[in-house]
Amino acid sequence: MATTLISGGTVVTATEIMDADVLIDGTKVVGLFARGGALPELVVDRVVDASGKYLFPGGVDVHTHMELPFGGTFASDSFESGSRAAAWGGTTTMIDFAVQTIGESMMAGYEAWMDKAANNCAIDYGFHMIVSDVNQQTLKEMDMLMGEGVTSFKLFMAYPGVLYSTDGQIFMAMQKAAENGSTIMMHAENGIVIDVLREQALERGQTDPIYHSLTRPPVTESEATHRAIAYAELSGAPLYVVHMSAKEALDEIAIARNRGSNIFAETCPQYLFLGWNNLKEPDFEGAKYVCSTPVRDWEQGHQDALWRGLATNDLQVVSTDHCPFCMNDHPVLGTQKRLGEGDFTKIPNGMPGVEERMRLLYHGAVGENRLSLNRFVEVTATTPAKMFGLYPRKGTIAIGSDADIIVFDPNVRTTMSVNVNHMDVDYSSYEGKEVEGRIDMVLAKGKVLIEGNQYHGAKGDGEYLRRGTNQCLI
Ligand code: URP
Ligand code: ZN
Ligand code: ZN
Repeated sequence: MATTLISGGTVVTATEIMDADVLIDGTKVVGLFARGGALPELVVDRVVDASGKYLFPGGVDVHTHMELPFGGTFASDSFESGSRAAAWGGTTTMIDFAVQTIGESMMAGYEAWMDKAANNCAIDYGFHMIVSDVNQQTLKEMDMLMGEGVTSFKLFMAYPGVLYSTDGQIFMAMQKAAENGSTIMMHAENGIVIDVLREQALERGQTDPIYHSLTRPPVTESEATHRAIAYAELSGAPLYVVHMSAKEALDEIAIARNRGSNIFAETCPQYLFLGWNNLKEPDFEGAKYVCSTPVRDWEQGHQDALWRGLATNDLQVVSTDHCPFCMNDHPVLGTQKRLGEGDFTKIPNGMPGVEERMRLLYHGAVGENRLSLNRFVEVTATTPAKMFGLYPRKGTIAIGSDADIIVFDPNVRTTMSVNVNHMDVDYSSYEGKEVEGRIDMVLAKGKVLIEGNQYHGAKGDGEYLRRGTNQCLI
């Protein structure tokens, strides 16, 4: 087994900032040596000089959709391209979503998604299960999937006729989760009301991308969030609300957490950095930013509220909801976003981001003084790992943890652009944005994946992670 010493850097975890050298043996961290103290005589295969740099735990992105079928097309990143792009961006663990097709078993969905990912991923991966069809068989399969390390189940209060579950179905799945120890993830938007608003907008000739957000007003998110919390509390299931964007919905989370309930929530970079100004870009460019929940009007304070929520722990995680669709030129999938030209309801919902999350968050959090260094690590790596049963193997730099490490130079500014990205999509939502910091090196399980602006990984480096249960429960 190869040994590596990363010397001269500053190790940052959710709780510590320490000038320490990190010793890696094979796939694991085996030593942390505070500088200034006595260093043992070490003979190692390789010494990496990280002087002046931060060492962060590899990012844990718990919300990605590689190859997701949606809106008559598929998310443009495959497991191979998307996981490689994640590595470029300092994310070394991802949890994607296997999908149950209506009328089919969940196990069939799980096996199909395992096949898509197997031997293709650059980084370690796990699965949540999207439950599209709650019935007695599905409820039994929730137990079976727990045995496979799938310990979280996503339900939808949106997308009627596609992924939507009724309140009764949601409640039954929650009762099962309370019984078997899994976590319910919720897409909390009132899809029934949204469908009425969308129809009415189209009747008025309102077809541009901005109407995607205008027909999903904050109350459709906050009402659904309130309802999901009520059912979770009644059933006793832990609830994790995904991709939150409305400050009113976040208020619902805060109230429930103050009651001491096991209610958790994530937001995503698009809600922290983007808004109506983007959706209103001319010539259908606004379609790039169509995702659900929608990006909102920053002038109404949603972004500030989300950042505050991250600071106060009302929000615990920043994931990406990476779900890319091309605007103009995917060789196989074509002009995907343009399916909705002249009818915003046909724009595939989703945005790229798996490669950009760590740098964006570092910039917005540490660079712009909104969150501490420790908190940056906590929301991008440590808490996601705990929330979905992967800690301390993932999400920290500690003896015994997987050697998933980012060497990060905080003294360099970089510019985000599709021209330097590796995701299989033809735009960056942050084109031209200058951010603080540069990812110099990425190691996953001790292997160098990124160094010297080169990719050294291979498909199949990533292994399936059998996850434990939620480690954040009160
Ligand atoms: O717009 C989104 N979020 N697309 C991906 C599917 C989902 O709801 O997470
Ligand atoms: Zn969703
Ligand atoms: Zn999603």
